[in-house]
Amino acid sequence: KIYNIAVLPGDGIGPEVINEGMKVLQALADVDSTFKFESTTFNWNSDYYLKHNRMMPEDGLSTLQHYDAIFFGAIGDRRVPEHIPIWELIMPIRKNFRQYVNLRPIKQLRGVKSPINANGPIDFYVYRENAEGEYSNIGGRLYQQTDEEIAIQNTVITKKGVRRLASYAFEYAEKNHVKKVVNATKSNAIVHSMKLWDEAVEEVASSYPEIMVEDVYIDALVAHLVQRPETYEVIVASNLFGDILTDLGAALVGGLGLSPSANLNPERNFPSMFEPIHGSAPDISGKQIANPIAQIWSAALMLEHLGRKDLSSIVMTAIENVIEDKKVLTPDLGGNARTFETGDAIVQQINHQ
Ligand code: NAI
Ligand code: MG
Repeated sequence: KIYNIAVLPGDGIGPEVINEGMKVLQALADVDSTFKFESTTFNWNSDYYLKHNRMMPEDGLSTLQHYDAIFFGAIGDRRVPEHIPIWELIMPIRKNFRQYVNLRPIKQLRGVKSPINANGPIDFYVYRENAEGEYSNIGGRLYQQTDEEIAIQNTVITKKGVRRLASYAFEYAEKNHVKKVVNATKSNAIVHSMKLWDEAVEEVASSYPEIMVEDVYIDALVAHLVQRPETYEVIVASNLFGDILTDLGAALVGGLGLSPSANLNPERNFPSMFEPIHGSAPDISGKQIANPIAQIWSAALMLEHLGRKDLSSIVMTAIENVIEDKKVLTPDLGGNARTFETGDAIVQQINHQ
């Protein structure tokens, strides 16, 4: 099988870190003849928008649909209003390709120091709902430009949407002998949508009698995550809560430069998408100082999804060896290596395994 991968580098540091991700994939293909891939790069970014007044061609989604996976950098540029790349590129891909599970591992890699003193290694998965919830464009504004102005923004929670997300998380929990799933909620204050959320999670949980489900209010949960992050294994969260929890989680395990994500279509009738959780970082772009590890780890998640857990493990060992070695780290990890040097060091580790 030759895997076909669509590559969307995006803006800012996106192309810089994606370059390192591609180097790693190529290195794997070089050392393992059973792994073959072809990639096509689509420069659907802010330059494209400024030229064509859209983020991707009219047939963009049907083009992407035929790929085995999408490898995404980051998007966003000061010249384009913030909501445009999100609502015209990222959201259409996530929603149309039914990538309703956003998996974000919060894992303290070997050699990474956490800013807090946890009583053990931090290693949990956040399953974030990725296709509905608070990130909706339903709503509107009334009485604009008056002192009476009102904005209404609707959250969409569907029983099916929560069930499928929760099922995926519980499935993982069962396979990995996880005893407890934490449900991030706020149904005490958000009484309609979060109540339905809790009920749907509970319903799924009832099919897994050996796994306990604990509802924790999101405000308390963020405090607990700082106080005892090592006690968590699996968290299910809505789109907004999951977004916030995972940036907090990223900070606990070394920062945005070390945090990957997978936008998964569990049915596999559409491609899934793999991207770091960070954005295009205009403050550091063009300088080759961005950390490529989040992007390379995202490549490892992609390999796992494509059925090559063996290659994914090789990549993770290579990343951890480079971090532990401390010699080729980018400035966010206290070193002075350039982006490509970190990528090269990881490739070298792969060649030596
Ligand atoms: P950001 O994640 O780009 O940057 C936040 C901070 O983290 C910055 O100080 C940046 O330098 C640092 N940082 C991020 N990635 C890093 C890396 N790999 N290595 C070292 N340092 C890193 O978030 P920000 O600044 O809020 O947004 C910048 C642009 O990115 C905006 O246009 C935003 O809309 C977009 N964005 C895009 C996302 C995506 O493509 N999925 C996700 C988040 C933001
Ligand atoms: Mg975010």
